[in-house]
Amino acid sequence: MKTILVAGSKGGVGKTTIATHLAAESALAGRRTVLLDADPQGSSIRWAERRADLESAVLPVDGSRRPKHAWKSVPEDAQTVVIDGAAGAMREDLEPWLEHADAVVVPVLPSALDIDATVPFLNGLAGHPRVRKGDLRVGLVGNRLRPWTNASQQAMALLAQWPYPLVAQLRDSQAYVVLVALGRSLFDYQSRQVREHQADWAPLLKWTRRG
Ligand SMILES: Nc1ncnc2c1ncn2[C@@H]1O[C@H](COP(=O)(O)OP(=O)(O)O)[C@@H](O)[C@H]1O
Ligand SMILES: [Mg+2]
Repeated sequence: MKTILVAGSKGGVGKTTIATHLAAESALAGRRTVLLDADPQGSSIRWAERRADLESAVLPVDGSRRPKHAWKSVPEDAQTVVIDGAAGAMREDLEPWLEHADAVVVPVLPSALDIDATVPFLNGLAGHPRVRKGDLRVGLVGNRLRPWTNASQQAMALLAQWPYPLVAQLRDSQAYVVLVALGRSLFDYQSRQVREHQADWAPLLKWTRRG
């Protein structure tokens, strides 16, 4: 079982978008996939319910109230577990998930304000015993990039200075907004435009499969 936690201290940075996409990609690859929603807003649960009829359905698990209980609802034969972390969750709130995860994906928007706001969260992770031992990998994802802008370029240069790898640079695209609302992902489609955006995910997917 591979467990990926998508987390950050901020809301609206793309945690649900990334968690649902990682879950969809895994399910489309034929792996038994669970999407554990730790956010009481329940966006990931609703997303999973909307694709319940597909062959590449993922099993939604509500983790917003009792984390221990939620873990018991994860089938033993699950091959991928993606956890959509709650907005504003700091390291202490994430403890029950950090214990189980193989990797943490931290989305960051390309703005200095956003990066500053993420610093205490990343410092908290850096002090976690499992991160220190190398049992739990942390990767940064630049999200909603407009690569042609100075702001995006400067933000990515700032992120590159962190001791954590920048494992993907996802561009800003309305496709994410539209598809996630339908219980779908970019990986469910093969049009030329969508495939271009799929390519943004390649390094992240490779990184999550490591180890
Ligand atoms: N790469 C992207 N391009 C365009 N819109 C995005 C992208 N990633 C996220 N969004 C949009 O930004 C908003 C916040 O994303 P969401 O995944 O819900 O963040 P979080 O779960 O961290 O609160 C949503 O409206 C979502 O559709
Ligand atoms: Mg969310």
